[in-house]
Amino acid sequence: MTSARKITLRAVSDSPLSEDMEKIRVESLNFYYGQKLALSNISMSIQDRLITALIGPSGCGKSTFLRCLNRMNDTIRGTKVEGRVEFGGQDIYSPGADVVELRRRVGMVFQRPNPFPQSIFDNIAFGPRVLGLHANKRDLSEIVEGSLRSAVLWDEVRDRLKENALGLSLGQQQRLCIARTIAVKPEVILMDEPCSALDPIATLQIEELMRSLKKDYSIVIVTHNMQQASRASEYTGLFWLGELVEFNATETIFTRPSQKLTEDYITGRAG
Ligand SMILES: Nc1ncnc2c1ncn2[C@@H]1O[C@H](COP(=O)(O)OP(=O)(O)O)[C@@H](O)[C@H]1O
Ligand SMILES: [Mg+2]
Repeated sequence: MTSARKITLRAVSDSPLSEDMEKIRVESLNFYYGQKLALSNISMSIQDRLITALIGPSGCGKSTFLRCLNRMNDTIRGTKVEGRVEFGGQDIYSPGADVVELRRRVGMVFQRPNPFPQSIFDNIAFGPRVLGLHANKRDLSEIVEGSLRSAVLWDEVRDRLKENALGLSLGQQQRLCIARTIAVKPEVILMDEPCSALDPIATLQIEELMRSLKKDYSIVIVTHNMQQASRASEYTGLFWLGELVEFNATETIFTRPSQKLTEDYITGRAG
């Protein structure tokens, strides 16, 4: 990279990043697929109960970065991580870190809704059953109902819990996947372009849902949609060729970015 695109974790005067509010702290993170450096020297703070949007062109490392936050990249062979990712003050890459517990606390929703080919109920009950989060059947039903309510899906599915989840619309399937993530009581929800397969109405429903989830969870969303980033998030980071070009309060990024590249990208002149 040229020196003009120096990595920055800029102090923000109008919306300061607060250490007390920090949920995840990323310090000097490098990530490799084999020899290929896919993320270079990323430092970022994910604030509690706020929405952080990650933007940038295809292939610039957004998904890779997201997967670093709950060690989903561990499943890809030949990868290497350098630097630190702290969650709750602990380095998630330290030897002995509990990866199963990490993935419960830092859940993930993907680009295409991926319900299991099972009933709506069983989709939501899956995680709690595996982790033994319920004492009895009634407990489990309460978790399922609560999760579906939080995902603003309950009223649409309450009479069809035994039906196959694949019979739902795509937008409903994505809300189901969010409910499935919520069911194991996470603290952070990572969303990788969760609306890219959805129509505009389903997209707005997910955005509204994100706003309501924000009171209980930290959300990190990758999006190609500039309006979505500017509408829905408090902080925005622009990735470019594996680097974090600028990370700042969303309002600052969209009104007075400090990097020329950010301005070019959000106005459609670059990328
Ligand atoms: N499983 C993988 N193995 C090797 N290279 C990968 C893999 N996944 C992604 N990459 C490469 O890493 C870079 C970043 O990809 P990705 O994180 O998917 O970007 P984005 O989500 O911003 O589109 C790209 O060059 C991509 O080709
Ligand atoms: Mg991606």
